[in-house]
Amino acid sequence: MRKKVTIVGAGNVGANCALRVAEKELADVVLVDVVEGVPQGKGLDLLQSGPVQGYDVLITGANDYEPTANSDVVVITAGFPRKPGMSRDDLLMANYEVVRTATEQAVKYSPNCILVIVTNPLDAMCQTAYMVSKFSKNRVVGMAGVLDTARFRTFIARELNVSVENVTAVVLGGHGDTMVPLVRLSNVSGIPLTELLDKATIDALVTRTQNGGAEIVKHLKTGSAYYAPSAATIEMVESILKDKKKVLPCCAYLEGEYGINGLFVGVPVKLGAMGIEQIYQIKLSDEEQALLNKSAGAVKELVAVIRSKM
Ligand code: APR
Repeated sequence: MRKKVTIVGAGNVGANCALRVAEKELADVVLVDVVEGVPQGKGLDLLQSGPVQGYDVLITGANDYEPTANSDVVVITAGFPRKPGMSRDDLLMANYEVVRTATEQAVKYSPNCILVIVTNPLDAMCQTAYMVSKFSKNRVVGMAGVLDTARFRTFIARELNVSVENVTAVVLGGHGDTMVPLVRLSNVSGIPLTELLDKATIDALVTRTQNGGAEIVKHLKTGSAYYAPSAATIEMVESILKDKKKVLPCCAYLEGEYGINGLFVGVPVKLGAMGIEQIYQIKLSDEEQALLNKSAGAVKELVAVIRSKM
């Protein structure tokens, strides 16, 4: 029997996720969006790429959740971009409403799914999906670290003129400018990054990574990144569907790990058929722990705003 993936939000990230699932022939796809016609139209268009690309997956679009029943994975990308004049808290509450509704509906029809959250502000949206779904913590996971490390790996590879495939990078913390790239654990085919680049260069690459999303927004002007975010999301979805047990940096619910309790924060996890099957704790230096605490503090503030308005 084929696997089934629902993607909520048929915008830039959602539609590209659907395309990547199809091109990898991972599962049948249901695209869901509030805008009438958009998920249906994009679904049909993607379906008609099948004969050319050589994939045999069914892709459909809907404005309700009934067709999503019994999905193995539900990816939530639905949300609003930040508009001029909107505060961070306004955006937070707008997307909270979207993710709350999407989660409620999705889990009603797919009570056994794994939820992969993509909507920003990511860490707070994971918390929303976790609270609303009442799923066990292993079944709610957020996409951030795979994208953040992909950006860091890209910049390192470009700087050294080596293959991106040889570059390994580790990033902890919230998705945003407080993320904590762990330079000491980043390497090129096992060679520590610190032996290949001087501190000033590494610092510049770290800063560029922390502002990676904003750099793309600045170019695009009317939207945010979607090719790399969708690629990162589908690496996670593939690891779950195929039970590959990849170790990836993901947003996970912590209960004491890294001294953080009751919050979603980015950490290395093992992703398999059960969702988050293990959280890896890395021994941190005092400086790294302080940066992680700062990052977790920023997530905590957003979660407090949601809780106060619930
Ligand atoms: N239910 C379903 N879909 C919704 C809802 C809802 N309640 N509200 C909005 N949407 C849809 C919109 O109609 C739109 O098609 O979500 C889609 C969002 O698409 P885009 O605006 O193109 O945004 P995108 O670039 O895909 O980003 C989506 O992912 O990376 C994050 O920060 C990004 O939070 C953003 C999300």
